[in-house]
Amino acid sequence: AGLFIGVDVGGTKVLAAEVAPDDSLPRIARRSTPGRRVEVGLVETALDEAVREVADGRPVAGVGLAAAGFVDAAGERVMFAPHLPWRGEDVRARLAARWETVVALDNDANCAALAECVAGAAQGTSEALVVTMGTGIGGAVVLGGRVHRGTNGMAGEFGHAQVVPDGAPCECGGRGCWEQYSSGNALVRFARDRLGHEPTVLEEMCGGVPERLLGPMVTEAAEHGDLLARQAFASVGDWLGVGLANLVAAFDPEVVVVGGGVSAAGDRLLEPARSALARSLVGAAHRRVPPVLRARFGPEAGVVGAAYLARGAAGG
Ligand code: BGC
Ligand code: NA
Ligand code: ZN
Repeated sequence: AGLFIGVDVGGTKVLAAEVAPDDSLPRIARRSTPGRRVEVGLVETALDEAVREVADGRPVAGVGLAAAGFVDAAGERVMFAPHLPWRGEDVRARLAARWETVVALDNDANCAALAECVAGAAQGTSEALVVTMGTGIGGAVVLGGRVHRGTNGMAGEFGHAQVVPDGAPCECGGRGCWEQYSSGNALVRFARDRLGHEPTVLEEMCGGVPERLLGPMVTEAAEHGDLLARQAFASVGDWLGVGLANLVAAFDPEVVVVGGGVSAAGDRLLEPARSALARSLVGAAHRRVPPVLRARFGPEAGVVGAAYLARGAAGG
């Protein structure tokens, strides 16, 4: 016996949770991600603290890690992560030794896809696309009911598809990546760039300091009718739909599921995405345009899927 813990290691925050057999999350712990230019030990310390807080002295049967990065085909190492310091790091074995329990590792969006396929918005479909909107954009292609892994385990890195030649620089080292126009970072940048030029409650929320402006503030401001915040969602949502149109053209899925932190905004993000998908998808008038659904587990989909992975690895 013992509990299963899922940990989402994102570019901005670490979210750890006990995932109960009924998929509820009785205990949650959060930490900030120390940064992407820090010593790797610092990230692992944050994970360790969050996991111990969730366990609270109880026995742990397994921990699943949903990492915002490129995980190798064996599920052992994080080879590269634009928003984290991991470069070829042997994360799984190291943490299994540290915690003396079963540890499973996969890409965060792949974990979200697993949760949504087993018990969420993609349940019962065998062809699906799952996109997570967090610090960046994560992706997973579900083919024949399974997450498609590719040769290196790195399939689904849609966030770094170039959508604007010579566009905004990306943490991956490239330019004009999709996630620079549609993600939590993109939402924040849209608002920051316009602070001081347009009247907005965001000015007050961040104390006039653009660097203090965070994604959840934009979500809250949009809820209260703030025009700039609503424009930020319209822009990020439109870019989401444009990118999805390319993915739908490539994979012809039955459903598209959107998770990640920004999906907390629900239709404010998804409505403009649906319009842009219908407008941009090739042959839209001659085919069924797939529904764009909010992930059932929302921003917690990665955590739930990671715990499923750990349960599978522990033979449960
Ligand atoms: C990373 C992906 C990750 C996504 C969402 C991207 O920048 O390349 O591996 O899934 O962000 O966190
Ligand atoms: Na992926
Ligand atoms: Zn990139």
